[in-house]
Amino acid sequence: MRVEEFIPTQQFKAIENGTVCCTAPSNIALVKYWGKKTHQIPANPSISFTLNNCKTTTILKYKVKPSKGLSFEVFLEGKPKEDFKPKIQQFFERILIYAPYLETHHFQIETSNTFPHSSGIASSASGMSALAMCLVQLERLLYPDSDAAFLKHKASFLARLGSGSACRSIEGGLVVWGKHKGISGSSDLQGLKFPSEVHAVFQDYQDAILLVDKGEKQVSSSVGHNLMHQHPFATQRFEQAHAHLDQLIPILKNGDLPSFIKIVELEALTLHAMMMCSDPYFILMKPNTLEIINALWAFRKASKIPVCFTLDAGANVHVLHPKKYASKVNEFISIKLANYCQNKHYILDSVGKGAESIEF
Ligand code: DP6
Repeated sequence: MRVEEFIPTQQFKAIENGTVCCTAPSNIALVKYWGKKTHQIPANPSISFTLNNCKTTTILKYKVKPSKGLSFEVFLEGKPKEDFKPKIQQFFERILIYAPYLETHHFQIETSNTFPHSSGIASSASGMSALAMCLVQLERLLYPDSDAAFLKHKASFLARLGSGSACRSIEGGLVVWGKHKGISGSSDLQGLKFPSEVHAVFQDYQDAILLVDKGEKQVSSSVGHNLMHQHPFATQRFEQAHAHLDQLIPILKNGDLPSFIKIVELEALTLHAMMMCSDPYFILMKPNTLEIINALWAFRKASKIPVCFTLDAGANVHVLHPKKYASKVNEFISIKLANYCQNKHYILDSVGKGAESIEF
């Protein structure tokens, strides 16, 4: 689709007030998005598993107001959340042209997460996709002729403008974002449910999220992405992401786990390598991140269980494995790896179905 197609051409229906509610999950990237161009266009394509348990639920209350302009309040777990406002203000300004009703209504945004906000789990992916889903639900009422498939694309398109990775949380399973020549329909503008065949092993893949550091992010994603502009290895990195996606397409079909593991771990370490050699440079792993990686490698070698790790832009470790090994891996986590987590805290998650609207 083209950007222009998301700009409404009709006048919207007059609706005084109402409430919509949506839930959206987080996602974990296998090939990472790190580096972007203007208008939230990714520097390289990425692919992720949509998760199931780590979710944001957002209730959006809207009411017509007399004068034009953006006006909203935000609540997290029932309490006013002033520090969320600048990001939402920026989001609304970016999408105003695609959502003109934002200026004619006052909004109350009530959001809650299934995971602790200060867990170091990126809440922007689930949060922005839940909010985008709510807007699209409202749009369904304001423009009753809108087509359901179009609205799903639009939810992902809008979510991207809130936070890039959020556009991968609308659909379930495996989602690709960013133009890639080997994946027909892939786009820089929105996520696409991975259109090729996926082996059964990946349909219910497990992700245990080990919370090594629950603190605030040391580097915001936006600052991190910007560091790729002057980065000495940017070109090679973007080429590598394309190559990794090319290699993953047959692997996702044939279930070749050793090859899957190699790409996923290489992606995680490359993401951190990029941060470690940017200017300014950062080390976002903590000593316990490395303890976990080494213990996991030793466990994999001894048990022959095809378990691997990936990382986001932080110290937490995602332990990925096929469902049939979940009880053995979970036992290993609780006995060994939990000791490296803050307050022994970890979250068991798995591949999920994507964002949903909830009757309110
Ligand atoms: C390391 O989506 O949080 O998790 O677009 O600036 O909001 P913004 O960035 P964000 O970046 C996520 C980066 C990552 C890798 C990934 O999820 O692909």
